[in-house]
Amino acid sequence: MEYLTFALAKGRLATKTMEILESIGITCEEMKDKDSRKLIFVNEEKKLKFFLAKASDVPTYVEYGAADIGVVGRDTILEEDRHIYEVLDLNIGRCRMCVAGPESAKELLQSGQLIRVATKYPKIAKDYFFHKKHQTVEIIKLNGSVELAPIVGLSEVIVDIVETGTTLKENGLSVLEEILPLSARMVVNPVSMKMEHERIADIIEKLRHRGE
Ligand code: PRP
Repeated sequence: MEYLTFALAKGRLATKTMEILESIGITCEEMKDKDSRKLIFVNEEKKLKFFLAKASDVPTYVEYGAADIGVVGRDTILEEDRHIYEVLDLNIGRCRMCVAGPESAKELLQSGQLIRVATKYPKIAKDYFFHKKHQTVEIIKLNGSVELAPIVGLSEVIVDIVETGTTLKENGLSVLEEILPLSARMVVNPVSMKMEHERIADIIEKLRHRGE
């Protein structure tokens, strides 16, 4: 039997994902050692491998077949736009992709003015403003702490993930428009889906009916 390899987005999502996988009998004792600096973990008995990657790299590993299966947020899947199959909504990591800013920016959005939009997600922002709203905007790519941008005058609004809304609130910003609901998804390499169909379909089926 070949190894089936999972790429997980490291951080909170990976911990939650392993809990869900454990509930259907997919376990990896090696991974529970939080002090370990190992990058790849193996369950020899079940012929499974797991590795943790930066979220935005998970679709890449899955597209090239370095991982058969990935678990990552819908935000990353849309932004990376890789040739992979999205097979299941895991219903964890629920949040929303939003346009946010100071209340005063609401008017700028409605009047369709040329505004600047700071974001970690330029593709999602472009799709929304150019193709859905038909509004010309200037997109500025940032790599984190995006809420800073409207506060220091880099942009009028941001496109970012809102989970509890605390970050926005504590910085005097609010949700101005909702773009998409988000959650963690399971993705599969198209070749693996054919070659390992039985094993992968069984995992999807078990995950779909977990807790029933
Ligand atoms: C995300 C997102 C927001 C925050 C939203 O940031 O970009 O900043 O979480 O969560 P909240 O609505 O519950 O406050 P993340 O922690 O991923 O950091 P980064 O964007 O700075 O990389």
